[in-house]
Amino acid sequence: MRLLKAYWYIFKSVGGAMKAGRQNDLIFRYFVLKALDKLGFFEYLKQPRAYGDILVEFGFSDGEYTQEIFNTLLHDSDNVIVQNHGAYAVNPEVPLPEIESILAKTDPRLHFLSEMAESLSYNILDRLREKDIGVTEIFERDDHSVVNMFDGLMDAGIYSAIRRACFAYLTSEERRWLRGKKLIEIGCGSGRETAEIWLHLGGETSITGVDPVPGMLNLAQDNFMDLLKELDPTHPPVTDKNRPVFKEASATELPFDDNSFDASFWAFILHWTPDPKKAVSEAVRVVRPGGLIFGSQAFKPQVNQYLDLVIRSSRNSYGFFWREEYIQWFADEGLEIDCATPAGITRATNKA
Ligand SMILES: C[S@@+](CC[C@H](N)C(=O)[O-])C[C@H]1O[C@@H](n2cnc3c(N)ncnc32)[C@H](O)[C@@H]1O
Repeated sequence: MRLLKAYWYIFKSVGGAMKAGRQNDLIFRYFVLKALDKLGFFEYLKQPRAYGDILVEFGFSDGEYTQEIFNTLLHDSDNVIVQNHGAYAVNPEVPLPEIESILAKTDPRLHFLSEMAESLSYNILDRLREKDIGVTEIFERDDHSVVNMFDGLMDAGIYSAIRRACFAYLTSEERRWLRGKKLIEIGCGSGRETAEIWLHLGGETSITGVDPVPGMLNLAQDNFMDLLKELDPTHPPVTDKNRPVFKEASATELPFDDNSFDASFWAFILHWTPDPKKAVSEAVRVVRPGGLIFGSQAFKPQVNQYLDLVIRSSRNSYGFFWREEYIQWFADEGLEIDCATPAGITRATNKA
């Protein structure tokens, strides 16, 4: 029943999760191809070219990331490029896609992704050239700031639906138990998540939001009160006791003592971190024995390779991983987690 309810929230917001995942694939694929196309990559490959010549022409480094981009294009469902006797060429039978036709076949509730995909996909060019860009630079670039975008985008129904699903996946005793407790929100983003969690818990839980990107943290700090009002004009009063506090920190290095919190929550963040296994161990460390660890995380293969390449354009982002790995990282900490796909809704009780 809890699972059905959780799935229902997600279904209502974007329809079938698998279908939404496929549509999301096509959007990210389009913008990665577009970023390469703007560089003249496909024009250059109208003639077969040796790998080394391509690297020199575009200033790409011969690293694992570059090879993965080439492999992805080669083995893409449409084989955008082909390889013959060691030389690469654009596949003349595969026209580059057009965003209008992709969006025409995409649920309008997912159209917001195209703005995000466009901004993020520019970063793959820097990564191909081994420029040292990390998460903060990616979020705060002057030309394609994701921070400003997230301010509006976090408003998109899917994020709220997944958060609602995370709470629906808890037992009613657990939801009641959380009131009056201390919760750490890891990767708090723009503050919308903080405001929603705060309301889900009737304003009775003390929330500490952490995020390593200063711009995101500023948004959270600045937006919290307005968001609360927007989400529920009759919200409970905010007092010194229940006002969230925000702190700059990475999930992989939480600046808190062991057992500092009763619960932790995260959503859509582990792929951005440099080491999701370490983030799991940090969450387990700061939540007290018997406390709750819950949230959501998307996994391979639901998350497509193009989105993964875009996330990994940050030198210190791990990218997406498999559900089995996630479960194992918790098992390594002595925890058995309850993890429902496709949205990776998770709940676990910390070891006593
Ligand atoms: C897609 S947003 C999700 C934000 C929020 N959880 C939500 O769902 O509204 C990803 C967030 O992960 C944060 N992030 C990136 N690296 C992180 C890290 N190492 N530890 C914690 N959060 C991180 C980003 O700054 C950003 O706010």
